[in-house]
Amino acid sequence: MKNFNLANPVKIIFGKDTIKDIANEIPAGAKVLVLYGGGSIKKNGVYQQVVNALEAFEWFQFSGIEPNPHYETCMKAVALIKEKKIDFVLAVGGGSVIDAAKFIVAAACFDDGDPWQIISKGMKIERAMPFGAVLTLPATGSEMNNAAVITRAETEDKRAFSSPHTYAKFSVLDPTATFTLPARQIGNGVVDTFVHIAEQYLAYREDDTLLQDNFAEAVLKTLIVDGPKALATPTDYDVRANLMWASTWALNGWLGCGIVQDWATHRIGHEITAFFGLDHAQTLAVILPGVLTVLKEQKARRIQLLGKEVFGLSGTSDSALIDMTIRAVEDFFEEMGVKTHLSDYNLGDEAIEKVCERLKERGWKLGECQNVDYRMAKQILDLRK
Ligand code: NZQ
Ligand code: ZN
Repeated sequence: MKNFNLANPVKIIFGKDTIKDIANEIPAGAKVLVLYGGGSIKKNGVYQQVVNALEAFEWFQFSGIEPNPHYETCMKAVALIKEKKIDFVLAVGGGSVIDAAKFIVAAACFDDGDPWQIISKGMKIERAMPFGAVLTLPATGSEMNNAAVITRAETEDKRAFSSPHTYAKFSVLDPTATFTLPARQIGNGVVDTFVHIAEQYLAYREDDTLLQDNFAEAVLKTLIVDGPKALATPTDYDVRANLMWASTWALNGWLGCGIVQDWATHRIGHEITAFFGLDHAQTLAVILPGVLTVLKEQKARRIQLLGKEVFGLSGTSDSALIDMTIRAVEDFFEEMGVKTHLSDYNLGDEAIEKVCERLKERGWKLGECQNVDYRMAKQILDLRK
């Protein structure tokens, strides 16, 4: 195990009827800005619960944060924060709204020119406004990590940043808020969670990380058992609770302690979303089986572990087990209703060219061994046509 530091300050408030508790978490007298997306929270009662909880506060709202949130939209919220002299931001929604909140709270305090430089130049965030979250879509782990992914529509750039200043003060996780998710978003959430773990658990390592492996396997098994149940019985509370807690665990820092990580699938996937608008998880479902296939020698031990411990597989040979495991991953994504080939999304050679050209321009060498360059990305994507 490698050396590591761990400090996660996010207070999790989990369970039924907990949205009202935000009233105790937001500092008294704070002027609040509620951020949300396209209006799903108005249909499932979450908005009204937030309104009730904020009764004692002066508050404003900013809606219309799109999936894969845009820098351009975030900057409009920053202007409103300055105009209304807001003290506290409350993000109500999925990963996109929470990610937007992270950028907004940092941008509102950024006084070194255009805040896009936080992303484009990796400029350091010195301070940020406080914010809290009410999660409605379990997937990204954004509710308990300090990362965010923002898209600049003008240049079709989708890029991540993170900072110790962009952890939520609290996140409310009420599984009943997820009952209204459409099947597509249930599938997306489970696939995204699965791939967050894969980026950690399947990265090549020489050292022994038994504890992290056991943790990761527990979360993966939960997804495999309860993911399909959420599709079949959308209002099963325990299933939703297990999935919500699983997605938080997958990317709150704990599973990644002391291990080298991969993230090539995500980095390539972000380019596909930036250019062609696929859902985040759709890109991952396409790419991960390709990454595992092209890197099957490097990741051999890890893929076999996944096959044995998570899917309960055994093969007549090591290579048979590896192939069966990659197949099982792909089948699971399909079972969750997330398609796994580029052609399922009407993408082909032209799209592959465009993505690989950008990876070439950027000179990226991705993955735990930094060997996934644009040429290898092409091999990966060619397998996924
Ligand atoms: O906008 P509304 O109307 O709210 O509808 C949303 C949106 O259309 C809908 N939705 C959310 N909760 C719902 C609901 N519909 C019905 N009932 C509910 N309870 O779902 C749609 C998708 O929402 P979005 O927030 O975009 O999805 P997700 O949570 O998957 O977030 C995706 C974004 O997070 C980034 C992705 O790249 C993408 O931009 N990621 C963030 C990460 C992080 N911060 O650590 C890591 C991830 O790997 C990921 O990259
Ligand atoms: Zn993800």
